[in-house]
Formats: sequence, structure tokens, C-alpha cells
Amino acid sequence: MSTEAQDGTLTVTDNRTGQTYEFAITDGTIRATELRNIRVSDDDFGLMTYDPAFMNTASCRSAITYLDGDNGVLRYRGYPIEQLAEKSTFLEVAWLLIHGELPTAAELTQFTKDIADRMSVDPSVEAAVKAYRKDAHPMGVLEAGFGQLSTLYPEAKEIESDPERMDALYNTIAKMPTIGGVAFRHNQGKDSVAPDPSLDYSTNILKMFFGADYEPDPRLVRALDILLILHADHEQNCSTSTVRSVGSSQVDPYSAVAAGIAALYGPLHGGANEAVLVMLREIGSKENVPEFVEKVKNREALLMGFGHRVYKNYDPRATIIKKACDDVFEVTGVNPLLEIAVELESVALNDEFFIQRKLYPNVDFYSGLIYEALGIPSEMFTVMFAIGRAPGWVAQWLEMINDKEQKISRPRQVYVGPDERDYVDVGSR
Ligand code: ACO
Repeated sequence: MSTEAQDGTLTVTDNRTGQTYEFAITDGTIRATELRNIRVSDDDFGLMTYDPAFMNTASCRSAITYLDGDNGVLRYRGYPIEQLAEKSTFLEVAWLLIHGELPTAAELTQFTKDIADRMSVDPSVEAAVKAYRKDAHPMGVLEAGFGQLSTLYPEAKEIESDPERMDALYNTIAKMPTIGGVAFRHNQGKDSVAPDPSLDYSTNILKMFFGADYEPDPRLVRALDILLILHADHEQNCSTSTVRSVGSSQVDPYSAVAAGIAALYGPLHGGANEAVLVMLREIGSKENVPEFVEKVKNREALLMGFGHRVYKNYDPRATIIKKACDDVFEVTGVNPLLEIAVELESVALNDEFFIQRKLYPNVDFYSGLIYEALGIPSEMFTVMFAIGRAPGWVAQWLEMINDKEQKISRPRQVYVGPDERDYVDVGSR
């Protein structure tokens, strides 16, 4: 049902006062601030909603990504994810997310060149990374790298200037894999590999990781490009809403993206793909799956890569990734962990615990297996997610900056601490 079909009014009676209020329902929502009119006295602040973790609060109007979690639907700017994964490329999708329409052939050629020309990073970025411990987690390095970009491009503070902000947004997409590559090579004790502007985006990524001499099979390059497309945006998820929230302070976009990278790093968000591999290794063999599932049901473990705040059905991205897995394993040979993953999925999907809670595989259940087949170590998986999510972060940032209704993000709280009390000297406590 379209949200317009749900428009109308809502009549509410405050049983404390007997007063009745009427609220407009637009796009299936009421304006939370209008609830402030509901008061018991003149000095009452007014009614608020209490919504920890934003379970039922829309924070913006967005024309970028449509997600219907109950029916497993995902569309970028109206285009079904299945069609984009089959027919498009990551950079074309990036343009679509930022500009709202698919590019013309000339626009795509220019955009591809714009990104390729921006992929290299200032030498001070590698110098800074070299100062990190050799085992520095690449997500920490990536986060710091974006803080550093904000110092290298101070003009990005001019967020009202279209050329300046487009420069920053394109730089974000272009430099994310380069900094990721520097971090990865640092972990291996190797110097970085400079991007080659003559190569396509995904080939460049693999070469910056594995060396200029590495010649990736085109099927692997295509699988990587598909993975990036699938991760490109996912409306108001934890990291994107962080980018919007931090960006609402009008800080430069690099700093807002650094905050998004930090949010993505967490194991309940982008860190899940790494956690899935750790879990599969711990399970060790197909025979141990039932025992692990029992542990999950006894709340001793989480089934990583399962469950989603919005999807209460099969994540459509997981279906596409499963197919990409087959294509990749045709080239690389089957990853033995796949057998465990398939068994785990089958046992879970037939178990009442998971059925009742509508827990299905999410995008991260199989993505790690592909990354591993590409030779990418598990600490880099979340970096891969960040590379994919960069266009979504910047498209959402731009939409937020252009949205006249947006102000600095600042939630309310329900104070539950002590009433006023007098300070007690340390000797008398
Ligand atoms: N394993 C076991 N039980 C689970 C899982 C899981 N992966 N996910 C949810 N549940 C259970 C919860 O314990 C809860 O059970 P209860 O109602 O009996 O207490 C019920 O299912 C509902 O789960 P919530 O935690 O309320 O769901 P929420 O929307 O808050 O969390 C989340 C979503 C964080 C993704 C959760 O499913 C999870 O932790 N999954 C594992 C981590 C993961 O894969 N994250 C990647 C998410 S996708 C992404 O960021 C790209």
C-alpha cells in the first residue's frame, strides 16, 4: 500500500485532561513535534515519544532507497536491486544514488574518469599509516584516514558550495579503497600500490590489495563489483544515520563519513561479515551445526549474519550473494566453510526459534565467504563494506544538506536520575 493511501487524520483523547486533539497523518506518519501540544498544564513541556534505538521513528524524508523488509524488497532510486546487480556497475549505481537518475553514456564516462583521477591519496596518508602498529585493524586506520582527508581538504567545509561538496563526495568514493589498500598492505608489512587510472574501479581495488602484477579473473572482478552494488545503500541504517547525524552539525563530509566508518565497524553492523567467518571457523564442521544452533537458542551465542532490524524475510541481497558465491567458487574452488554455512542456514530456517522471530540470513551471511575466496583477509571485510557503502553515505549526506527541514540532530531524553541534591565533601561521604 502506498503511504499516501494511509493519509488522513488521527484523533487522540488525553485521558488525563479529557481533551481531544487531531493530527494530520502524512505519508503514514504524524509529526512528533505536534504531540507537544498535548499538555496537562501551561508549564508542561508537552508529550514526547520514547523510542530507544529509533524502532519506529522516521528521521527524514528520503528519495534514495526503498526497503520493504516484510516482503524482501530493496530498490535504489526505484530500480530493483536484482536488476542493478545483474546489469549495472558499481560506479553507475554510485552516480544513480548521488544524482537520482541513471547516467547517460557521456556522464558515466566522465564520472568513471573523475573517480579514477581521484583515487590516489596524498603521501602523508601512507606516512601516517606507517606510524600505526603493524597489526592495526584496517577499520581503525580507515576511520583515521578520513579524519586526515578532512585536514587535507579544508575547503570541504564549504558545504553550501556545489563544486566543493561534489569534490568531497567523489573523493570519498575514490579514496575509500585506496586508504583501505594502504591499511591492508601495512598489515602485511608492504608498501602501498598506487591506483592505476586506466583500470576499472574493482580491478583497481584488487591490484591495490594484491600488487600491480596481480591479474584478477574478470569473473572475480564482476563478483566484487556486484558485492559493492549490494552494499551501496540501505536507507537509514546505523552508519548512514550516523553520517546524517554528525553531518547535521555542518562538519565537512569527510568527518561525517569518518563517523559512519566508526559506526560500521561494530559487530552488530558492518563487523558482522568478519564475525560470520569467525563463527564458521569455530563451528569447524557440518556435524557441529546442531550443537551450535542449540547454543544460539540457549542465548549463549548469536547466529552472526542472521536477523535484521528491518528485514523480516529473506534479505534480497543474500539471495544475490549466494548466486555470486557459485560464480566465484567456479574460479577459486569451493571454500570448505560454505558447507557449514549452507547447513547452518538450512537448520536455522527450519527451526521454530528462528521461524518465530523471522530471522533470515542477511547480506553478511555469505559475503565474507566471497571475500575470503578473493584472498581478502577477514579484518578487511568491513573495509569492503565501507567501500561499497561510500556512495550511499555521501548521497544521504547530500540529501540531508539540501533538505530545508533538517536541523542539527539532537534527540530528547527522559531524565530518570536523582532530583536536585547538595554536594557532600569527600571526607563526609
Ligand atoms: N541470533 C540469535 N538470535 C537473534 C539474532 C541472531 N542473529 N538476531 C535476533 N535474535 C533474536 C533476539 O534475541 C530477539 O529474541 P527475543 O525476542 O526472544 O529476545 C529477537 O530475535 C529479535 O531480535 P532483536 O535483537 O530485537 O532485533 P534487532 O532489530 O534489535 O537486531 C540485529 C537486529 C542487530 C541485526 C540482530 O539480528 C543481530 O544481532 N544479528 C547478528 C549480527 C548481524 O548479522 N548483523 C548484521 C546486520 S545487517 C548489516 O548491518 C549489514
